[in-house]
Amino acid sequence: MTIKIPHHVAIVMDGNGRWAQQRGLPRTAGHEAGEAALFDVVEGAIEYGVKEISAYAFSTENWRRSPEEVKFLMGFNREVLRARRDQLNAWGVRIRWAGRRPRLWLSVIDELKAAEKLTAKNKTLTLTMCVNYGSRIEIVDAVNAMATDVASGKLKPGAITEKTVQKYLNSNYLPDVDLFLRSSGEQRTSNFLLWQSALSEFYFCEAYWPEFRRVDFLRALRDFSLRHRRMGK
Ligand code: IPE
Ligand code: IPE
Ligand code: MG
Repeated sequence: MTIKIPHHVAIVMDGNGRWAQQRGLPRTAGHEAGEAALFDVVEGAIEYGVKEISAYAFSTENWRRSPEEVKFLMGFNREVLRARRDQLNAWGVRIRWAGRRPRLWLSVIDELKAAEKLTAKNKTLTLTMCVNYGSRIEIVDAVNAMATDVASGKLKPGAITEKTVQKYLNSNYLPDVDLFLRSSGEQRTSNFLLWQSALSEFYFCEAYWPEFRRVDFLRALRDFSLRHRRMGK
């Protein structure tokens, strides 16, 4: 069966804590187990010809978690990037970061920047790590930047279009999301890529993220290929 492949897949990697709790493990063990899922999915995505994956790793709302879990997640993101960047580079993956600087640990930003630099020329697939990412604040930041440019005369008030807004987004290089996927049974966006997913197909599955594998990803791709996207037509 030939299937229609989405160009850009957004993934809300959810359910790490519940996966761990089910096994009597600390929530952090669930985050650790989630690493294998992401890299299996990325390898599968390369095989199936998906060009862009945006992975939600830490939201602007996740600062509300316990200080211990936040600290763990910061260190963990940094270590995963460091440990995996050579492998991703060898696969031809370009790593990019979408998110905000304020509050984010400098050591995490340094690691994200190093990974971006190392993989800048890769073309097989772009993996955007969304760390300290939130859609509303991304739009608010864009509005502020536009207001500044209007005040200085660089931008004309009545001339702002959808393209202009897109250009001012921090993740302005990201194309529209074709398939928005979330694991763990929750059916919500949790402030992920709201602007970019206005015309996306949504796919929710029951598996907790640590048990999600490329076969589950392939199932999502099959489902996507059966959808009839009308885009308003
Ligand atoms: C997703 O898993 C990972 C992050 C938010 C960093 P959760 O930690 O949200 O796991 P659940 O949803 O509590 O099971
Ligand atoms: C969304 O999951 C954020 C990430 C996967 C990084 P959450 O578990 O934090 O979202 P809510 O709390 O269910 O909305
Ligand atoms: Mg969750």
